[in-house]
Amino acid sequence: MILIKLGGSVITNKGKPLSPRRKSIDKIVRTLKKINEPIVIVHGGGSYGHYWSIKYDMHAKPAKYSTHGVSVVKNSMIELNKIILDSFLKNKLNPYCLPPTDFISGNKPITKKIKMIEKIARSGFIPVTYGDALWYGQKKSFILSGDRIMSVLATILKPRLSIFVINVDGLYSNIKTKKLIRELKGRKPLISKSSKDVTGGMNRKVDEAIKISKKDMNVFFVNGNKPERIIDAINRKKFHGTLFRG
Ligand code: IPE
Repeated sequence: MILIKLGGSVITNKGKPLSPRRKSIDKIVRTLKKINEPIVIVHGGGSYGHYWSIKYDMHAKPAKYSTHGVSVVKNSMIELNKIILDSFLKNKLNPYCLPPTDFISGNKPITKKIKMIEKIARSGFIPVTYGDALWYGQKKSFILSGDRIMSVLATILKPRLSIFVINVDGLYSNIKTKKLIRELKGRKPLISKSSKDVTGGMNRKVDEAIKISKKDMNVFFVNGNKPERIIDAINRKKFHGTLFRG
């Protein structure tokens, strides 16, 4: 099984509120058709979820955020999710929409439900879930990132590969010269902070990728603007991106 996260900066234009990148979405979805094993999809919030989370000052840490804000973020994620699902259907794939509340309670994974996701994937559907605003309990809520969902699912489902589809070629050792780190194991490199991201941007992505790789599974970062690289990674061909070796 393969776990794939479609990053918000690939499926939306992060510089412009509420703007999907429909062509990129379609191109990636058409590429996913070439995969001959069960896949599970997670997508991020991009200029939908992140846009509203920033407006309502909501973060990954559980706190008493605006209830209206939670509703608005949730609604925007459904809107973006619908665009993704429509693209799957248009391309004759069978998505199975699973909001994260289906398998996460508070901030705890529901193992039984997560194991069901694998069964759903093995019966011909493509489970699709996404980062979201969630109720935490005691009037608190929090933003659950798609990156965090990746490590939650990977821990229980043990996919052969976890792929983070992002808007750049991979992890750079130097952002200015765009020198790509092709492979790393265990240790986290120094990463410059991105300011606008409520769930921690690249930093969070790398944390979750390392968490997964430390559990003995390979993780790839690949550029979603070149979707054929996803297929190359899956087929163990010459690979362009960053590999976090498990
Ligand atoms: C964010 O998910 C979800 C919300 C803000 C509601 P991610 O943090 O995984 O989104 P991207 O991929 O970075 O945009």
